[in-house]
Amino acid sequence: MQQFIDLLSAETGRAFAAAGYDAAMGRISVSGRPDLCEYQCNGAMAGAKTYHKAPFVIAQEVAEQLKETSVFSLVDVVKPGFINLNVQDDFLEAYLQNMREADKFGFETSKEPKMIIIDYGGPNVAKPLHVGHLRSAVIGEAVKRILRFHGDNAIGDIHLGDWGLQMGLVITELKKRQPGLPYFDEGFTGEYPEEAPFTVSDLEEIYPYASAKSKEDEAYHEEALENTRLLQDGDRGYRALWRHILNVSVADMKKNYANLNVTFDLWNGESTVHDLIPGMVEKMKADGFAYESQGALVVDVAKESDPKEVPPCMILKSDGAALYTTTDLATLLMREQDCHPDEIIYVVDKRQELHFVQTFRAAEKCGLIHPDCRLVFDGFGTVNGKDGRPFKTRDGGVMRLSSLIAEIDASMLEKIEANPAIQGEEAQKTAQQVGLAAIKYGDLSNQASKDYIFDTEKFTSFEGNTGPYILYTIVRIKSILGKYAAEGGKAPETLRLGLPQSAAEKNLMRDIAGFSAMMQEAYEDIAPHRICGYIYQLSNDFNSFYHGTRIMTEQDVAKKEAWIALLELTRSILETCIDVLGFEAPERM
Ligand code: ARG
Repeated sequence: MQQFIDLLSAETGRAFAAAGYDAAMGRISVSGRPDLCEYQCNGAMAGAKTYHKAPFVIAQEVAEQLKETSVFSLVDVVKPGFINLNVQDDFLEAYLQNMREADKFGFETSKEPKMIIIDYGGPNVAKPLHVGHLRSAVIGEAVKRILRFHGDNAIGDIHLGDWGLQMGLVITELKKRQPGLPYFDEGFTGEYPEEAPFTVSDLEEIYPYASAKSKEDEAYHEEALENTRLLQDGDRGYRALWRHILNVSVADMKKNYANLNVTFDLWNGESTVHDLIPGMVEKMKADGFAYESQGALVVDVAKESDPKEVPPCMILKSDGAALYTTTDLATLLMREQDCHPDEIIYVVDKRQELHFVQTFRAAEKCGLIHPDCRLVFDGFGTVNGKDGRPFKTRDGGVMRLSSLIAEIDASMLEKIEANPAIQGEEAQKTAQQVGLAAIKYGDLSNQASKDYIFDTEKFTSFEGNTGPYILYTIVRIKSILGKYAAEGGKAPETLRLGLPQSAAEKNLMRDIAGFSAMMQEAYEDIAPHRICGYIYQLSNDFNSFYHGTRIMTEQDVAKKEAWIALLELTRSILETCIDVLGFEAPERM
């Protein structure tokens, strides 16, 4: 279905053409002055330059051509040459009627679906998830769903950090604590145990301990490096132990991500591409792209146009060890071989931008990916505390994701249980649902690249620009629809919409009509925050309409039925949007 704003623009475009001007100048936008009009066309201002004519005269000539229009109820020319417009009620109603009947409210999906990989999550095995991992998971999941809503073939890959020094550190510490394990016995030839010799809580204690120790104990650090190398070179016992660490850690991650309503199609990691590295490096050398510099192997990636110097991309350290960049390059090679993607989007902390600039350039230069593959770095900002500094626990430690979620859920449970009708298990479940909306919306409503302040009190509020407010609006609609059904009302889908009876109702209807344009923007700009902005306005306009309208006591059946139909459409749009954002609404709260 054509976007509403495009239909309106086509009508003004026709008028521009009829008056002898370029139809493209008829482009309109939602009014910046809602007190004056609903839409505005500034084309006459641009036309003034092209046609050397006063904009006011052009606007008047165009307005003349709109005298008979059945699209607009108001065409008002104001100085110096703006055209203020209101849409006809029945035109708006008819559009909404079509939206109800169409798939995805008439949103135009991809004609040629693209294959897009989204690299997000990026947790590190054996390290607990912390608040820094929140954004990648929450934004990445929303981006994936936006792409899918658009009809593209979007694949989420978690890209586990499962191959670095942290694995060597854990192995080193385990060896100190349990030297008798068969994994450390070089002469051992039997089958290794199926059970891991540690739990996830052991791991959570071991890693920070080993990491701290290696910082003050040089010999310990050396040992961890050596053990990392042995692991990577394929030591049988270390590989078996590493599998355990991976399994235990991943099982725990899956729980955490499930709580966030985040799922991945691929659980690949840095280790997955280990065997691709030697061949890739050889080819880079043979093709003359990689060369030795101060013992290390590098690829030049600087461009003359760079405002700041981009240092060469390091492929191998002087001791021959692979780096973060090396695994990212090999991952690109694998993704190219496995899925030949049209696009790869990385949802990673923006402080890693330089790493990705280097990686992308090296991959393009060395032909690891096909030339039309678009590599996108979607860098996000930091989560800060109220003091404006990176978010920490009360005693200054790194905030674990699970603690953060627990804190929000507890504060939510208090609010939910204030309603005597919702207690016990239902209250718990509702608190989790609303809590998740609080966290996700609190994050997603900010432009991803910006830092934001994690403000528990604000995020969990039922009022203002928050997730709970959006859910509250949905629940309110569901409750009215429930009452209507209980009265023996007809199924809302079978009812006809009506003409708006008030300005508030028309505002709501115009918001709904803008759905496709908003979704298209969210898609093109990879911008979940646009969806948040949209549902916030939609909720506000719905609530104004609701407060000014006595729906349930309306005696005029046609009016009441039209409102019920409008409520159902509003609910359905809101629920579609929050599903794309990655959370859902309870039945009541
Ligand atoms: N594990 C990394 C980190 O914690 C993030 C991985 C991001 N993705 C990537 N392909 N490099 O910083």
